[in-house]
Amino acid sequence: MSLDQVQCIDQIIQSRQSIRAYLKTPIDRQIIEDILNVAARAPSGTNTQPWKVYVVTGCKRSELIDRVCQTQTEIFKKPELAQQYQETFVYYPEKWVSPFIERRRENGWGLYGLLGIEKGDKDKMAAQHLRNYQLFDAPVGLFITVDKVMGIGSKMDISMFMQNIMLAAKARGLDTCPQAAWNHFHRIVLEVLDASDQEELVCAIALGYADPDAIVNQFVTPREPAENFAFFLD
Ligand SMILES: Cc1cc2nc3c(=O)[nH]c(=O)nc-3n(C[C@H](O)[C@H](O)[C@H](O)COP(=O)(O)O)c2cc1C
Repeated sequence: MSLDQVQCIDQIIQSRQSIRAYLKTPIDRQIIEDILNVAARAPSGTNTQPWKVYVVTGCKRSELIDRVCQTQTEIFKKPELAQQYQETFVYYPEKWVSPFIERRRENGWGLYGLLGIEKGDKDKMAAQHLRNYQLFDAPVGLFITVDKVMGIGSKMDISMFMQNIMLAAKARGLDTCPQAAWNHFHRIVLEVLDASDQEELVCAIALGYADPDAIVNQFVTPREPAENFAFFLD
C-alpha cells in the first residue's frame, strides 16, 4: 500500500463525524447499493453476516417519521408514556460513572452549546431530540435488524458493518449519523418496515449529503490519545 493510500484511508476515518443536518438532495440507488456491497466485506463471526438492512426513502420514510415523531411528541407531554417504549437491548449503563459521565456531558452540552440551547430549556432540547426522528432531514434512513436467534456477538458484527457503511459513504461525499435513538420505537419501526417477528432492530443510520451551512455540523468531538487507553505489554 502506498503512502497516498494510507493517508487517504486515515483521512476518511478522521473526517467522518456524526452529521445532524442534511440537504434534501436524493441519493442514487446505485450509490447506496455500492456502499452496502463494500460494507458487507465487514468481518463477522464464522462469516454469519447477520445484518439485514432496510433502505428507507420516500413515502415509507415519511410514514416512519410521522408515526415516531407523533409518539415522541406525546411522550414529551406525558413522560410516563416513555415506559412503554423500551429498547430491546440495553445500550447505556443504569448508573453512570467517571470518566464516561464526564464525556457524555461534554458531548451533550457541546452540541447544545453550539445550537444555543441553555440548561433548562426543555422545549429546545425536546425539539433537538425530535430531529433524530426526522432523520435530521436525511433523504435516506438505513434500519438494520438482526435475527433474534443470533447472540450478542452479532451486534459486534453489525457494528463493524455499520462503520464500513459510514466510511464507504464518506468516501463518496456522503455523510451519516448512527442513531440508536430509534431503538426505543422498535415496535413502530418494525411494523412500518413490515419486518418479521423474528427480527430485532439494532440501529439506524441517517444517510445523506451534509448541509454545509448548518451550524450543528460544525460539532467535532474530541478523542483521548492512544497513550491514555492503550497498554503496550512486552
Ligand atoms: C451506536 C451509536 C448510536 C448513536 N446514536 C445516536 C443517536 O441516536 N443520535 C445522535 O444524535 N447521535 C448518535 N450517535 C452519535 C454519537 O453521539 C457520536 O458518534 C459521538 O458523539 C462521537 O461523535 P462523532 O460521531 O461525530 O465522531 C450514536 C453513535 C453510535 C456509535
